[in-house]
Amino acid sequence: MIGFVKLAPSILSADFAHLGEQVREAEAAGADYIHIDVMDGRFVPVISMGLPIVQSLRPVTNLTFDIHLMVVEPEKHIESFLDAGGDIINVHVEAATHLHRIVQTVKSRGKRAGVSVNPGTPLSEIEEILPELDQVMLMAVNPGYSGQAFIESVLPKTRRLRKLLDEHRWGAEIEIDGGVSIGTAPGCVAAGADVLVAASAVFNKTASITDNIAKLRESVKTAGRTL
Ligand code: DX5
Ligand code: ZN
Repeated sequence: MIGFVKLAPSILSADFAHLGEQVREAEAAGADYIHIDVMDGRFVPVISMGLPIVQSLRPVTNLTFDIHLMVVEPEKHIESFLDAGGDIINVHVEAATHLHRIVQTVKSRGKRAGVSVNPGTPLSEIEEILPELDQVMLMAVNPGYSGQAFIESVLPKTRRLRKLLDEHRWGAEIEIDGGVSIGTAPGCVAAGADVLVAASAVFNKTASITDNIAKLRESVKTAGRTL
């Protein structure tokens, strides 16, 4: 497969005292999206960040904001994250009762609708909604924290989803979230991912954001696609 893969740095691992500068550096280094992990302490064990972060960052960058809602009752929060500047709104299939309605709401606002799927959730859960989606986010960790180990079963899952989308000519892009590193990124891309989320592989104390993004880009070249 030849083509471009997008990189979505997740600010969950960023230095929040310098968040604006870190996002600017990621943009300058060629990031495509900024991935924003919203956790409510209910759907996942911890609380992370919410609307004020999205609102504060919106004037800082023109990059697409990929909002990952790890919250119960996501329908209550869709409009406010759209108003705050979200471009792609991802809700968990495990948390959404009226998934179709949520997807329609996002699309009626001219924004992109994504659905996130936990490692233990089968693809059959999104079968009916798949033709409507702009993005499917396959979790390669159980959501809640950055820096967790990559769960390999996401790779055959990605291959099956890629096949399904291609066969039907459905346009959803496949995003992989969790445990993405220079070690795991090539396999994700080879399996058919279009977008890679990375928190700890981009924002860490080992190297600069610029160097980390360059290394990720270099790593996926072996998979025949370009980041
Ligand atoms: C996990 C979040 C991920 C996380 C990824 O709950 O949804 O986006 O930030 O972190 P890394 O890339 O460090 O696994
Ligand atoms: Zn995420």
